[in-house]
Amino acid sequence: MLIPELHIGPYTAKYPVVQGGMGVGISLSQLAGAVAKAGGVGVISGVETGYSWPTYDDDKQKANREALVWHLQEARRIAPEGVIGVNIMVALNNYEEMVAAAVEGGADIIFSGAGLPLVLPALVAGTPVAIAPIVSSAKAAAIMVKQWRAKYNRLPDAIVVEGPLAGGHLGFSYEQLHDTSGQFALDTIVVGVIEALKQLLGEKSQSIAIIAGGGVFSGSDIAKLLRLGVNGVQMATRFVATVECDAHEAFKQAYVQATLADVVIIKSPVGMPGRALGNAFLDEAKVGNKQPEWCRVNCLKPCNPSQAPYCIADALVNAAQGHFHEGFAFCGSEVHRVDRITTVSELMQELMGELAEQ
Ligand SMILES: Cc1cc2nc3c(=O)[nH]c(=O)nc-3n(C[C@H](O)[C@H](O)[C@H](O)COP(=O)(O)O)c2cc1C
Repeated sequence: MLIPELHIGPYTAKYPVVQGGMGVGISLSQLAGAVAKAGGVGVISGVETGYSWPTYDDDKQKANREALVWHLQEARRIAPEGVIGVNIMVALNNYEEMVAAAVEGGADIIFSGAGLPLVLPALVAGTPVAIAPIVSSAKAAAIMVKQWRAKYNRLPDAIVVEGPLAGGHLGFSYEQLHDTSGQFALDTIVVGVIEALKQLLGEKSQSIAIIAGGGVFSGSDIAKLLRLGVNGVQMATRFVATVECDAHEAFKQAYVQATLADVVIIKSPVGMPGRALGNAFLDEAKVGNKQPEWCRVNCLKPCNPSQAPYCIADALVNAAQGHFHEGFAFCGSEVHRVDRITTVSELMQELMGELAEQ
């Protein structure tokens, strides 16, 4: 198969691969810069981006904004010609401030999920920043398009369709995740999204890049999705097991060691299901032994600290630093197939080689 470029608004990536944003601290400048340099779209996570910033304990929100600007500039230094985005979850308490910091830092694209980013066009108005909602259904894609068109006369530059096999928080109910009818499979949802956009927008739908993610592992997976009509894929799990990934070595090794039996669906404190590597910390949290005494971070709108089984920000920061006794790792469904740590450029060459052979 001929390998297509990926066009998102005015930006063009050489390869049709977006590295999914991974918080907390898993995809920062080193990973995003390396992916952008290797021809994909590199994405910095906008969740507690400043967790290791020197002034984080004095003023967390200021540190998050400063760190995001710094990571964007650093990723740009690594990949001056590359395409670099930021993932900012709608559920963040500091959503608007982080979007402003992404614009200030020179992000090319803002990806935004975990809720519908209904006000995002207003936040980037007058800037060249492309915007891409992340959705898990044709219904959500149609709502986004209708609302943005009616309110802002703007269409998304891309839509990321995230299926039930993704890592991190999932836009599906427990029942939907265990449904075996195929109606919630990524392929089915992707076809539904493409159809819904065609019906709503006709020819104009072609200006929106469709990017599919969740469980994409090999070049043949990418080819299958491209043949369904997507313009690119979003991959996260495979990029964790790279030299350049910003997580601690122990986090990467947890991926290499993972077996299928280690993967669990958890109920996150924010109320959504999530896919993660099970461990003693999560077992303890389940029986109520990890309840936070107070909220240090105030990160997510839907979190109620007095009822949360654990502090998700602390747990994810601990894991990013390799402290798994007080944290856990999110992962995609195919993590058990990760068998070694490689470089981003080798991984990209491997994927594109496989894709070319399809
Ligand atoms: C460790 C980890 C952290 C993640 N954090 C976020 C996040 O902060 N925001 C988000 O929108 N998606 C997040 N995701 C989802 C990814 O961006 C991506 O869409 C998804 O994992 C793709 O599936 P794959 O991992 O099977 O390739 C995360 C995924 C992983 C594995």
